[in-house]
Amino acid sequence: MEEKFEPKIVAFVCNWCTYTGADLAGTSRLKQQPNARLIRVPCTGRIDPVFILKAFESGADGVLVSGCHPGDCHYNAGNFHARRRWIMFRELAEFTGIDSSRLHFSWVSASEGKKWVDVIDGVTETVRQKGPFDQYRKMARNIELPIMEEEGVEI
Ligand code: FES
Repeated sequence: MEEKFEPKIVAFVCNWCTYTGADLAGTSRLKQQPNARLIRVPCTGRIDPVFILKAFESGADGVLVSGCHPGDCHYNAGNFHARRRWIMFRELAEFTGIDSSRLHFSWVSASEGKKWVDVIDGVTETVRQKGPFDQYRKMARNIELPIMEEEGVEI
């Protein structure tokens, strides 16, 4: 019997808003898809695009970045920096073979437990339709870094 595919979603969430919103969803006993692995960061401005690539390389089928609404960032403009970085990263991701429907960005505040459920359910369903993301993992494993090897840098 064939096993049903369940996507792994890595969600980078800001401590102040989305993490608390997701926590609220839990304490409110709202039903949600169990596919997300949350990684709590101080602010979405802290998220380096390399984190996202590493998540895909390590087995994620989809990635979500979620933080405070514009104007609500606890570090003033972290989410604006994240949004700008995000726009550029999406294009780079497409170039490197990552289907942009596997990448999602959202704003969820601490009081939006229901919105968190809608976001994570939506992302999970979208990625479930796409299927496993094995091709990126295989590709990432086969990338050779000849310049670094020549210089004697251990990878
Ligand atoms: Fe939440 Fe900056 S503190 S996005």
